[in-house]
Amino acid sequence: MLYVKDLYKSYEAGKNKYQVLKGVDFHVQHGEFVAVMGPSGSGKTTLLNCISCYIPFDKGAITIGETNLAGQSEDMLAHFRNTKIGFVFQDFMLLDGLTIRENILIPRIIQDEVTPDAEELANKLASLFGISQIMDKYPAEISGGEKQRAAVARSLINHPLIILADEPTGNLDSKSSRAVIEAFGEAKSRMNATICMVTHDSFAASFCDRVILLKDGTVYKQLENGGNQSQFQDDLLSAIKKMNMEI
Ligand SMILES: Nc1ncnc2c1ncn2[C@@H]1O[C@H](COP(=O)(O)OP(=O)(O)OP(=O)(O)O)[C@@H](O)[C@H]1O
Ligand SMILES: [Mg+2]
Repeated sequence: MLYVKDLYKSYEAGKNKYQVLKGVDFHVQHGEFVAVMGPSGSGKTTLLNCISCYIPFDKGAITIGETNLAGQSEDMLAHFRNTKIGFVFQDFMLLDGLTIRENILIPRIIQDEVTPDAEELANKLASLFGISQIMDKYPAEISGGEKQRAAVARSLINHPLIILADEPTGNLDSKSSRAVIEAFGEAKSRMNATICMVTHDSFAASFCDRVILLKDGTVYKQLENGGNQSQFQDDLLSAIKKMNMEI
């Protein structure tokens, strides 16, 4: 589904070039829920921004579904981003003036495609994520956890090829975080959604199928979830500790 091959990305700072991604290689299969973890500044958001076509990369290849992102026009990339990728952000990014139902439908409203099917899907997602009762409320009237579950529903409304989430539980307490992670789990099991989530939270990551550890601009290690969530969290914590001790 998602292939990232030998990806390089640098930022220009005056005359200096600052290399952030230095040959990142990984893939995410269809229907897989994968987390990306790594120290602050290791390039996680940069990586997601390259995959989302927000910023150009220097070298390498990114393929999503059948589409190779390298060499595509700005227009094509914008259209691809709007229709084929679902986004969930740390700070929810809901529009204050719209109800939760309208916020979930926003990707369809923008495309002028609010079909009965889309409304039905919005209701189905709301019920799946336990937010049916807040559909006519406004963002200011609901909790952070409810906002983020609404954002997960919004990310699915276009039947995207992949959902990209940057620290989706970063602003939530542990109970709300769990509900959001469970919403991703439902999206995966009921809708076969493919999810790539950046997180600092080993508890959230322990619900994923696989965790990719990023360090110094490359993939340091990948860990598979063997099926026991608390064991996987312990394994993650020790791998991260070991990674942080190596210079
Ligand atoms: N637009 C930019 N211009 C210049 N440097 C940047 C830019 N965006 C990020 N950087 C630098 O690139 C490095 C990687 O940043 P990035 O945001 O990808 O890290 P991150 O792994 O997401 O960190 P965090 O866990 O703190 O969110 C950092 O050193 C950052 O300062
Ligand atoms: Mg980041």
